[in-house]
Amino acid sequence: MSKLTTETVLSVHHWTDTLFTFTCTRDAALRFENGQFTMVGLEVDGKPLIRAYSMASANYEEHLEFLSIKVQDGPLTSRLQHLKVGDKVLIGKKPTGTLMADNLLPGKTLWLLSTGTGLAPFMSIIKDPDIYDRYEKVVLTHTCRFVDELAYKEFISEDLRNHEYLGEIVREKLVYYPTVTREAFDNKGRITDLIETKKLFEDLNVPPFSLENDRVMLCGSPHMLRDTRELLDGLGFKEGSNNEPGHYVIEKAFVG
Ligand code: A2P
Repeated sequence: MSKLTTETVLSVHHWTDTLFTFTCTRDAALRFENGQFTMVGLEVDGKPLIRAYSMASANYEEHLEFLSIKVQDGPLTSRLQHLKVGDKVLIGKKPTGTLMADNLLPGKTLWLLSTGTGLAPFMSIIKDPDIYDRYEKVVLTHTCRFVDELAYKEFISEDLRNHEYLGEIVREKLVYYPTVTREAFDNKGRITDLIETKKLFEDLNVPPFSLENDRVMLCGSPHMLRDTRELLDGLGFKEGSNNEPGHYVIEKAFVG
């Protein structure tokens, strides 16, 4: 039996020359946890060409949503970026991943630290009502080079806050902290620097990371993951996994 289903593209939105989102139909049998990823791709020359992508849609939503970069010579994304409504895409039947609430020890504040397309799994998580039951506060940071790469900025800062069911709890608990590194913006700099200088905590008026209160999910570029991991390890944080919960969990942002 195939490990993939064939789904139909429902919408495509290009954020920039290098970044786009698409939605597609969802197989009725597909189940996943918010924060997980699955295989996504196209049939090329009669064979599946697939890569891992995090779901940006929540597990209760009717359709699937994905955020992707466009790599001009990337085998998959050079093709995927030309998707049109009605096109067919292949979706893996077995989502997996480590960015799940159960992989973290209980805490008070959940930090979702992302760069680039590493935002995707956190789009799913910030739409999960269960996450707001588990934490007093949820802080989402998204760092990109340029302002127009801050995908979903308006959705997070406006639409989600006015969402029919989630709006109230989102307004109470979710803090969104977008930062850019290569042009002027309200918040500037790499998240690692903002943590080390404590500017992040000062801006948000919260205490710095503590083993007792803070839990962290990381998704982004390999360098950002390496440096943030070092920083957290230095504070005595332990990495969690599907076998044993810890103080932080990591997933690399997938590239095509
Ligand atoms: P910078 O512009 O200073 O390199 P990329 O587009 O290369 O995937 O990077 C996405 C964002 O992640 C950029 O804003 C980039 O900042 C930032 N970044 C890259 N490396 C690191 C790192 N080691 N620690 C923290 N942030 C990083």
